[in-house]
Amino acid sequence: MTRPTVVPSDAPLGAEIRGVDIAAGIDADTLRIVHDALHRHKVVVLRDQRLTPAMQATFCGRFGRLEPHVLPQYLVPGHADLVRVSNVLDDRGEPIGLIDAGRVWHSDGQFLELPNLYSMLYALEVPRDEHGAPLGATCFASTAHAYASLPESTRRRIDGLLAVNSLAAVYATLQRSNLATRRAPLTDAQKREVEHPLVRTHPSTGEKCLYVSRAATLRIVGWPPSESDALIDELSAWIVRDAFVHTHRWQEGDLLMWDNCGSQHLAIGDYALPQRRLMHRATVGGSRPH
Ligand code: OGA
Ligand code: MN
Repeated sequence: MTRPTVVPSDAPLGAEIRGVDIAAGIDADTLRIVHDALHRHKVVVLRDQRLTPAMQATFCGRFGRLEPHVLPQYLVPGHADLVRVSNVLDDRGEPIGLIDAGRVWHSDGQFLELPNLYSMLYALEVPRDEHGAPLGATCFASTAHAYASLPESTRRRIDGLLAVNSLAAVYATLQRSNLATRRAPLTDAQKREVEHPLVRTHPSTGEKCLYVSRAATLRIVGWPPSESDALIDELSAWIVRDAFVHTHRWQEGDLLMWDNCGSQHLAIGDYALPQRRLMHRATVGGSRPH
C-alpha cells in the first residue's frame, strides 16, 4: 500500500489526505497517519470515498466510541451511530434529517458534560448552482490558533476561567436569526447548563484551545453580565476572524472529519430544494474538558 500524503490548506487549519481508499481496507499505519493529521490540522478530508453506512460507522469507530445522536428521529435507518444531515423531505413533507445543522459558529456538543470529540460527515448529495458549482460549504476556524495568537495580557486575563454553556442558548441564537426551522421544543434535560473551562487543553495533543462561542456560551462564571457578554463576544469573534477561516467546498464522496476541541465550524445555507443536500454523520464521544 502506498503511504497517504497530507496536503495542508493555506489557512491555520484544514488538510486533504490523498491516497486513502477506506473501502479497500485501512491498516494501522494509515489509521495513525489520518489520526495524527486530524490532530495537527483539526479538519481533514478524504475525497472520493465509496462508503456504505456500515463502512462509515466501522471506520469512524476506529477513532473512538461512537455516539448516538440526541435527536433519534433523524438516524440513518438501522444505524444508531449515524444521523442524517439533510434538507430533503420525506413523502409527508417532513425532514429526513437535521435540516439546519450548524448555521451559527459552534463546536459540536459544547453544551454536553462530555462534548463530542470528533465529527465525521460523509457527503452523498451536494447541492449545486446553475453552473454546477457546489453550494452548502462548511467553514472552519482553529481554536488552538485563536488561543496561541492572543495577546499575552488577554491570556492572563482568561486562563482559569469557567464558562456556562447550554443548548438552550444555541436555540435562542438560531431563533433570533430566524434560522430555527421545524425543531421540536427542548426537553428540560436538553436545556441543562454545563460548566467548562474557557481555555481547554486538548486531551491528546495538550494544545490549549479557546472553548467559547456566542451561540452556546451563556456566561462566564463569577463575572458581571455586561463584562461577561463583552468577553464572550470578543473571544468568539477572535476565533472566527475572516483571514483565518478555512472553507470546505463539498464533493460527493467526501469524508470530512473534524476535531471539536481544536476547531469551530459554520454551515453556509446558500441552497434550497430542489437543490438537495444529504450527508451521513458519525460522532466520536469525548471526555470531560479540562
Ligand atoms: C454538524 C454540522 C455542518 C454542515 O453536522 O455538526 O454542523 O455543513 N454540519 O452540515
Ligand atoms: Mn456542527
